[in-house]
Amino acid sequence: MSTLVHDLDLPEVNFSDGDFDERRVKYRASVGDSWLYRGMFGYGVMHYEDIIAVLRDKRWHSASARIPELMGITRQDFLERQSGSILSTEGDEHTRLRRLVAPAFSPRAADRLRPFMRQVMNDLVDPVAPAGRADFVRDITEPYPIPIICELLGAPKSDWQFFSRVAGDILEIFSDDLPDKLDLVMNAQNDLDAYTRQMIAERRAKPDEDLLTALIAAEEAGDKLSNDELVMMVNAVIVAGTDTTRNQLGCAVSLLAEHPDQWALLAERPELAGRAVEESMRYFGAVRGTARFASCDIEYRDVVFPAGTFISVDLCEANRQDDHFPQPDRFDITTPAPAHPQLTFGAGIHYCLGAALARAELQEALPLLAQRMPNLRIDGHVTWKPDGVGIFGPAHMPIAFDAGH
Ligand code: HEM
Repeated sequence: MSTLVHDLDLPEVNFSDGDFDERRVKYRASVGDSWLYRGMFGYGVMHYEDIIAVLRDKRWHSASARIPELMGITRQDFLERQSGSILSTEGDEHTRLRRLVAPAFSPRAADRLRPFMRQVMNDLVDPVAPAGRADFVRDITEPYPIPIICELLGAPKSDWQFFSRVAGDILEIFSDDLPDKLDLVMNAQNDLDAYTRQMIAERRAKPDEDLLTALIAAEEAGDKLSNDELVMMVNAVIVAGTDTTRNQLGCAVSLLAEHPDQWALLAERPELAGRAVEESMRYFGAVRGTARFASCDIEYRDVVFPAGTFISVDLCEANRQDDHFPQPDRFDITTPAPAHPQLTFGAGIHYCLGAALARAELQEALPLLAQRMPNLRIDGHVTWKPDGVGIFGPAHMPIAFDAGH
């Protein structure tokens, strides 16, 4: 016998108060043994298997385009502008897009950029190394991803500032005061569109070895991406690929600063970088959850979720489950890879398209930083970004380390 979800007596969870660890304790206590809870906007699941089941079921559609609506935004031109992204496309249209663009985001394509990533990181450490002090966010994580995305797309160094500005403005889409920033976001999206259209024209005339050329050339059975789709992909790469990476780097280093033995080990054994990245993303992921809407009535575990039901999936809780990860509350980069992947890149059809690139960026950054910032410690008060719908990580992180490396 199935039951309508609205008729169930479920634990209620409010995400907003307390710091991360305090909240997790409260959260676990209030959810108890229930696999389902009532959350801020709808329902929520937190167990690994339920999360995988929801994310792999194509009847659950991405909620990303509906977040502005949930925040009370009604301006139609803004809402329409956000709805065409790969992040919120579903069904055959999404399958077609993913099939066309996937080769351009392969591990091999990401590996090509590894020397460039090391160069960017060395250039960022050079000015702070002599003093042995930095604000890790301002000096390292904030500037790190933009040159890499530019190199990936094939944009010249002279345009880094332009990209930095438009990315910053577009990323205000995740801010709590988005309703006041609609024009700022849309103007930046328009500027980026105009820039991308010009770049597309140039690459069509003169192909190069970059992502844009690869996307222009992407073809399957005579099918190709249109100009509008190319522009959308560049926008998606900026929205999904900059703030995520910088915050994940901030989370990883704040964690490693609490484990100085592991920081020292990473400097000695850079081959641990792969495990260090997966373990940091498992233990302290910058993307803590995502959300879906039921596109039709869905029955799961004898519960009926009517069309339109909102469900959040709690990736960070699943990453700490003891039936999937041995000793889940211990952070250790020397443990062998667990049988189950960490879920901070999501799962199912919307699984992070940039995962290979993000992994490469973090794998190159962490050992290099461990070598050039020995004895790294937090040197003051760390402030954190608001813990809302968006991406989580440090806003300011003063650090000190042994100078001159
Ligand atoms: C550590 C860094 C990153 C994390 C934690 C991360 C996390 C995620 C997650 C959880 C999703 C799925 C969202 C959902 O299912 O609702 C996603 C999707 C996506 N990510 Fe990432 N991401 C990262 C870096 C990147 C980078 C560097 C790029 C691009 C170059 C990128 C591009 C994308 C795109 C385009 C999607 C949408 C895929 C689709 O809907 O089919 N991400 N990412």
